[in-house]
Amino acid sequence: MKPKVFISKRIPQEVEDYIAQYCDYKIWNEETPIPNDVLLKEVADVEGLMTPKGIITKEFLNSAPSLKVVSNIAVGYDAFDIEAMKERDVWGTNTPFVLDEAVADLVFGLILATSRRVVEFNNYVKEGKWDRVLDSEESFGKDVHHSTLGIIGMGRIGEKVARRAALGFEMDVLYYNTKRKPELEDKYGITYSDMESLLERSDFVLLLVPLRESTYHLMGEKQFNIMKSSAIFINCSRGQTVNENALIAALQSGVIRGAGLDVFEKEPVAVDNPILKMDNVVVLPHIGSATQKTRFDMAMKAAENLVAGVTGQVPPDLVKELQG
Ligand code: DGY
Repeated sequence: MKPKVFISKRIPQEVEDYIAQYCDYKIWNEETPIPNDVLLKEVADVEGLMTPKGIITKEFLNSAPSLKVVSNIAVGYDAFDIEAMKERDVWGTNTPFVLDEAVADLVFGLILATSRRVVEFNNYVKEGKWDRVLDSEESFGKDVHHSTLGIIGMGRIGEKVARRAALGFEMDVLYYNTKRKPELEDKYGITYSDMESLLERSDFVLLLVPLRESTYHLMGEKQFNIMKSSAIFINCSRGQTVNENALIAALQSGVIRGAGLDVFEKEPVAVDNPILKMDNVVVLPHIGSATQKTRFDMAMKAAENLVAGVTGQVPPDLVKELQG
Protein backbone atom coordinates (compact mmCIF):
# COMPACT_ATOMS: atom_id res chain seq x y z
CA MET A 1 0.00 0.00 0.00
CA LYS A 2 1.25 3.47 -0.89
CA PRO A 3 1.73 6.00 1.94
CA LYS A 4 -1.00 8.62 2.26
CA VAL A 5 -0.06 12.27 1.78
CA PHE A 6 -1.84 15.60 1.50
CA ILE A 7 -0.79 18.51 -0.73
CA SER A 8 -2.27 21.77 0.51
CA LYS A 9 -1.88 23.85 -2.67
CA ARG A 10 -2.04 23.53 -6.45
CA ILE A 11 1.12 22.20 -8.00
CA PRO A 12 2.16 21.56 -11.62
CA GLN A 13 0.70 18.37 -13.14
CA GLU A 14 4.16 16.90 -13.71
CA VAL A 15 4.92 17.21 -10.01
CA GLU A 16 1.57 15.72 -9.08
CA ASP A 17 2.27 12.79 -11.46
CA TYR A 18 5.62 12.21 -9.77
CA ILE A 19 3.99 12.08 -6.33
CA ALA A 20 1.27 9.77 -7.66
CA GLN A 21 3.87 7.13 -8.53
CA TYR A 22 4.80 6.73 -4.87
CA CYS A 23 1.91 8.02 -2.79
CA ASP A 24 -1.80 7.84 -2.34
CA TYR A 25 -2.52 11.57 -2.34
CA LYS A 26 -5.20 14.22 -1.98
CA ILE A 27 -4.71 17.82 -3.05
CA TRP A 28 -6.30 21.20 -2.33
CA ASN A 29 -6.82 22.49 -5.86
CA GLU A 30 -8.69 25.73 -5.12
CA GLU A 31 -7.36 29.22 -5.88
CA THR A 32 -7.90 30.38 -2.31
CA PRO A 33 -5.70 29.13 0.56
CA ILE A 34 -6.99 26.05 2.35
CA PRO A 35 -9.05 26.90 5.48
CA ASN A 36 -7.39 25.67 8.64
CA ASP A 37 -10.29 23.42 9.71
CA VAL A 38 -10.20 21.65 6.33
CA LEU A 39 -6.44 21.21 6.58
CA LEU A 40 -6.73 19.73 10.08
CA LYS A 41 -9.27 17.19 8.84
CA GLU A 42 -7.16 16.26 5.82
CA VAL A 43 -4.00 15.61 7.83
CA ALA A 44 -5.72 13.38 10.39
CA ASP A 45 -4.47 10.15 8.76
CA VAL A 46 -1.58 11.17 6.46
CA GLU A 47 2.12 10.39 6.73
CA GLY A 48 3.23 13.32 4.62
CA LEU A 49 2.18 16.92 4.08
CA MET A 50 3.39 19.23 1.32
CA THR A 51 2.53 22.84 2.10
CA PRO A 52 3.49 26.37 1.04
CA LYS A 53 3.37 27.85 4.55
CA GLY A 54 4.55 25.16 6.87
CA ILE A 55 2.82 26.51 9.98
CA ILE A 56 3.58 23.54 12.19
CA THR A 57 2.69 23.85 15.85
CA LYS A 58 2.32 21.34 18.67
CA GLU A 59 -1.48 21.50 18.29
CA PHE A 60 -1.20 20.90 14.56
CA LEU A 61 0.97 17.84 15.17
CA ASN A 62 -1.61 16.51 17.64
CA SER A 63 -4.14 16.58 14.79
CA ALA A 64 -1.81 14.56 12.56
CA PRO A 65 -0.72 11.57 14.63
CA SER A 66 0.69 9.58 11.66
CA LEU A 67 2.70 12.46 10.19
CA LYS A 68 6.35 11.67 9.36
CA VAL A 69 7.34 14.55 7.11
CA VAL A 70 6.30 18.14 6.42
CA SER A 71 7.64 19.27 3.08
CA ASN A 72 7.61 23.07 2.97
CA ILE A 73 7.41 24.54 -0.54
CA ALA A 74 9.59 27.48 0.47
CA VAL A 75 13.13 28.04 1.61
CA GLY A 76 12.10 29.87 4.81
CA TYR A 77 10.82 27.60 7.55
CA ASP A 78 10.32 30.11 10.35
CA ALA A 79 6.79 28.74 10.87
CA PHE A 80 8.11 25.31 11.92
CA ASP A 81 7.98 24.73 15.68
CA ILE A 82 11.30 22.87 15.65
CA GLU A 83 11.08 21.70 19.27
CA ALA A 84 7.60 20.25 18.76
CA MET A 85 8.75 18.50 15.59
CA LYS A 86 11.79 17.06 17.35
CA GLU A 87 9.62 15.82 20.19
CA ARG A 88 7.23 14.09 17.75
CA ASP A 89 10.04 12.88 15.49
CA VAL A 90 8.60 14.60 12.43
CA TRP A 91 10.95 15.59 9.61
CA GLY A 92 10.73 19.08 8.12
CA THR A 93 12.20 20.05 4.76
CA ASN A 94 12.58 23.21 2.66
CA THR A 95 13.57 24.16 -0.92
CA PRO A 96 17.05 25.72 -0.89
CA PHE A 97 19.17 26.69 -3.94
CA VAL A 98 16.48 26.70 -6.65
CA LEU A 99 15.12 30.16 -5.84
CA ASP A 100 18.33 32.08 -5.18
CA GLU A 101 18.68 33.66 -8.64
CA ALA A 102 14.99 34.58 -8.94
CA VAL A 103 14.98 36.34 -5.57
CA ALA A 104 18.22 38.14 -6.43
CA ASP A 105 16.60 39.38 -9.66
CA LEU A 106 13.63 40.70 -7.71
CA VAL A 107 15.92 42.49 -5.25
CA PHE A 108 17.31 44.41 -8.21
CA GLY A 109 13.79 45.02 -9.45
CA LEU A 110 13.06 46.76 -6.15
CA ILE A 111 16.37 48.61 -6.05
CA LEU A 112 15.77 50.01 -9.55
CA ALA A 113 12.07 50.64 -9.08
CA THR A 114 12.60 52.64 -5.90
CA SER A 115 15.72 54.57 -6.93
CA ARG A 116 14.51 55.40 -10.45
CA ARG A 117 10.92 55.90 -9.26
CA VAL A 118 9.59 53.50 -11.85
CA VAL A 119 6.13 52.95 -10.36
CA GLU A 120 5.61 56.61 -9.50
CA PHE A 121 6.45 57.77 -13.02
CA ASN A 122 4.59 54.90 -14.64
CA ASN A 123 1.49 56.25 -12.90
CA TYR A 124 2.41 59.80 -13.92
CA VAL A 125 2.45 58.86 -17.61
CA LYS A 126 -0.67 56.71 -17.43
CA GLU A 127 -2.55 59.46 -15.60
CA GLY A 128 -1.79 61.85 -18.49
CA LYS A 129 0.48 64.15 -16.47
CA TRP A 130 3.51 64.01 -18.80
CA ASP A 131 2.97 67.62 -19.82
CA ARG A 132 4.33 68.64 -16.40
CA VAL A 133 8.10 69.15 -16.56
CA LEU A 134 10.18 66.62 -14.67
CA ASP A 135 13.39 68.56 -14.39
CA SER A 136 13.88 69.57 -10.80
CA GLU A 137 15.84 68.23 -7.84
CA GLU A 138 12.63 66.82 -6.37
CA SER A 139 11.79 64.87 -9.48
CA PHE A 140 15.13 63.19 -10.08
CA GLY A 141 15.93 59.65 -9.18
CA LYS A 142 19.05 58.24 -7.59
CA ASP A 143 21.90 56.37 -9.27
CA VAL A 144 22.27 52.67 -8.65
CA HIS A 145 25.54 52.10 -10.54
CA HIS A 146 28.67 52.93 -8.55
CA SER A 147 26.67 53.48 -5.37
CA THR A 148 27.10 51.53 -2.13
CA LEU A 149 24.94 48.52 -1.34
CA GLY A 150 24.88 47.13 2.19
CA ILE A 151 23.65 43.56 2.44
CA ILE A 152 22.57 42.31 5.86
CA GLY A 153 22.64 38.50 5.69
CA MET A 154 25.15 36.95 3.29
CA GLY A 155 23.63 33.58 2.53
CA ARG A 156 23.09 32.04 -0.90
CA ILE A 157 20.70 34.79 -2.08
CA GLY A 158 23.01 37.47 -0.67
CA GLU A 159 25.83 36.07 -2.77
CA LYS A 160 23.73 36.19 -5.96
CA VAL A 161 22.82 39.81 -5.23
CA ALA A 162 26.45 40.68 -4.45
CA ARG A 163 27.58 39.23 -7.78
CA ARG A 164 25.01 41.28 -9.71
CA ALA A 165 25.85 44.42 -7.75
CA ALA A 166 29.63 44.19 -7.88
CA LEU A 167 30.14 42.83 -11.39
CA GLY A 168 27.10 44.28 -13.16
CA PHE A 169 26.34 47.60 -11.52
CA GLU A 170 29.90 48.19 -10.30
CA MET A 171 28.59 48.98 -6.84
CA ASP A 172 30.67 48.95 -3.68
CA VAL A 173 29.19 46.08 -1.72
CA LEU A 174 29.38 45.95 2.07
CA TYR A 175 27.99 42.97 3.92
CA TYR A 176 27.21 42.02 7.48
CA ASN A 177 26.76 38.39 8.42
CA THR A 178 27.19 36.29 11.55
CA LYS A 179 29.95 34.45 9.69
CA ARG A 180 32.51 36.33 7.63
CA LYS A 181 32.95 34.97 4.07
CA PRO A 182 36.52 35.72 2.89
CA GLU A 183 36.05 33.59 -0.26
CA LEU A 184 33.28 35.95 -1.43
CA GLU A 185 35.40 38.96 -0.57
CA ASP A 186 38.12 37.60 -2.87
CA LYS A 187 35.72 36.55 -5.60
CA TYR A 188 33.62 39.73 -5.88
CA GLY A 189 35.67 42.37 -4.08
CA ILE A 190 32.99 42.86 -1.42
CA THR A 191 33.79 44.16 2.06
CA TYR A 192 32.79 42.80 5.47
CA SER A 193 31.43 45.48 7.80
CA ASP A 194 29.85 45.71 11.22
CA MET A 195 26.16 46.48 11.04
CA GLU A 196 26.44 50.06 12.29
CA SER A 197 28.97 51.21 9.72
CA LEU A 198 27.11 49.34 6.97
CA LEU A 199 23.97 51.31 7.88
CA GLU A 200 25.95 54.54 8.02
CA ARG A 201 27.68 54.13 4.65
CA SER A 202 25.15 52.43 2.38
CA ASP A 203 22.99 54.08 -0.29
CA PHE A 204 20.86 50.94 -0.33
CA VAL A 205 20.38 48.72 2.71
CA LEU A 206 19.13 45.25 1.84
CA LEU A 207 17.81 42.87 4.46
CA LEU A 208 18.14 39.16 3.62
CA VAL A 209 18.29 37.40 6.98
CA PRO A 210 16.11 34.39 7.87
CA LEU A 211 13.52 35.06 10.56
CA ARG A 212 14.65 33.75 13.95
CA GLU A 213 14.41 34.99 17.50
CA SER A 214 17.72 36.81 17.00
CA THR A 215 16.57 38.57 13.82
CA TYR A 216 13.07 39.56 14.95
CA HIS A 217 12.84 43.36 14.55
CA LEU A 218 16.52 43.52 13.60
CA MET A 219 15.73 46.82 11.89
CA GLY A 220 14.07 49.34 14.20
CA GLU A 221 14.12 53.03 15.04
CA LYS A 222 17.78 52.99 16.10
CA GLN A 223 18.93 51.31 12.88
CA PHE A 224 16.86 53.56 10.57
CA ASN A 225 18.25 56.60 12.38
CA ILE A 226 21.79 55.52 11.51
CA MET A 227 21.01 55.28 7.78
CA LYS A 228 21.66 58.19 5.40
CA SER A 229 18.60 60.33 4.76
CA SER A 230 19.15 59.67 1.05
CA ALA A 231 19.23 55.90 1.53
CA ILE A 232 16.68 53.34 0.41
CA PHE A 233 15.74 50.28 2.46
CA ILE A 234 14.89 46.98 0.72
CA ASN A 235 13.36 43.97 2.48
CA CYS A 236 13.17 40.58 0.73
CA SER A 237 13.49 38.44 3.86
CA ARG A 238 10.51 38.22 6.22
CA GLY A 239 8.34 41.10 7.37
CA GLN A 240 8.93 40.44 11.07
CA THR A 241 12.64 41.16 10.73
CA VAL A 242 11.59 44.82 10.62
CA ASN A 243 9.71 46.86 13.17
CA GLU A 244 7.17 48.13 10.66
CA ASN A 245 5.98 51.02 12.83
CA ALA A 246 9.56 52.26 13.06
CA LEU A 247 9.90 51.93 9.28
CA ILE A 248 6.68 53.88 8.73
CA ALA A 249 7.90 56.63 11.06
CA ALA A 250 11.30 56.77 9.32
CA LEU A 251 9.63 57.07 5.91
CA GLN A 252 7.09 59.64 7.07
CA SER A 253 9.66 61.90 8.71
CA GLY A 254 12.28 61.67 5.95
CA VAL A 255 14.79 59.79 8.10
CA ILE A 256 15.29 57.60 5.01
CA ARG A 257 14.39 58.30 1.39
CA GLY A 258 12.33 55.27 0.46
CA ALA A 259 11.74 51.56 0.65
CA GLY A 260 11.13 48.53 -1.54
CA LEU A 261 9.22 45.80 0.26
CA ASP A 262 8.35 42.28 -0.84
CA VAL A 263 7.32 41.27 2.68
CA PHE A 264 5.26 42.69 5.56
CA GLU A 265 4.88 42.05 9.26
CA LYS A 266 1.36 40.83 8.58
CA GLU A 267 0.54 39.25 5.23
CA PRO A 268 -1.60 40.03 3.33
CA VAL A 269 -0.84 43.62 4.32
CA ALA A 270 -3.81 45.51 5.81
CA VAL A 271 -5.44 47.82 3.26
CA ASP A 272 -5.18 50.75 5.68
CA ASN A 273 -1.42 50.30 6.27
CA PRO A 274 0.03 53.83 5.75
CA ILE A 275 2.85 52.35 3.66
CA LEU A 276 0.37 51.73 0.85
CA LYS A 277 -0.17 55.49 0.49
CA MET A 278 3.52 56.39 0.19
CA ASP A 279 4.89 57.32 -3.25
CA ASN A 280 8.43 56.64 -2.06
CA VAL A 281 7.68 52.99 -1.32
CA VAL A 282 7.31 50.17 -3.84
CA VAL A 283 5.38 47.20 -2.50
CA LEU A 284 5.00 43.63 -3.72
CA PRO A 285 2.93 40.66 -2.43
CA HIS A 286 5.82 38.38 -1.35
CA ILE A 287 6.76 37.25 -4.88
CA GLY A 288 10.52 36.84 -4.54
CA SER A 289 10.48 33.32 -5.99
CA ALA A 290 7.39 33.68 -8.17
CA THR A 291 8.64 32.88 -11.66
CA GLN A 292 7.25 29.94 -13.57
CA LYS A 293 10.49 27.95 -13.65
CA THR A 294 11.48 28.70 -10.07
CA ARG A 295 8.08 27.79 -8.67
CA PHE A 296 8.15 24.56 -10.72
CA ASP A 297 11.60 23.70 -9.39
CA MET A 298 10.48 24.45 -5.82
CA ALA A 299 7.41 22.22 -6.17
CA MET A 300 9.51 19.38 -7.63
CA LYS A 301 12.10 19.70 -4.88
CA ALA A 302 9.36 19.68 -2.26
CA ALA A 303 7.83 16.60 -3.89
CA GLU A 304 11.17 14.77 -3.79
CA ASN A 305 11.51 15.61 -0.11
CA LEU A 306 7.96 14.44 0.57
CA VAL A 307 8.39 11.14 -1.26
CA ALA A 308 11.73 10.45 0.42
CA GLY A 309 10.26 11.18 3.86
CA VAL A 310 7.27 8.85 3.49
CA THR A 311 9.28 6.04 1.91
CA GLY A 312 11.75 5.82 4.77
CA GLN A 313 14.66 7.76 3.29
CA VAL A 314 16.18 10.83 4.87
CA PRO A 315 14.85 13.71 2.71
CA PRO A 316 17.59 15.56 0.79
CA ASP A 317 16.60 18.96 2.22
CA LEU A 318 15.95 18.06 5.83
CA VAL A 319 16.37 21.37 7.71
CA LYS A 320 19.57 21.55 9.72
CA GLU A 321 17.89 21.84 13.11
CA LEU A 322 16.27 18.43 12.57
CA GLN A 323 19.33 16.59 11.25
CA GLY A 324 21.17 13.94 13.25
C1 DGY B 1 10.57 31.34 0.64
O1 DGY B 1 10.77 30.40 -0.13
O2 DGY B 1 10.84 31.30 1.84
C2 DGY B 1 9.92 32.53 0.04
O3 DGY B 1 10.04 33.65 0.83
C3 DGY B 1 8.46 32.23 -0.21
O4 DGY B 1 7.83 32.07 1.02
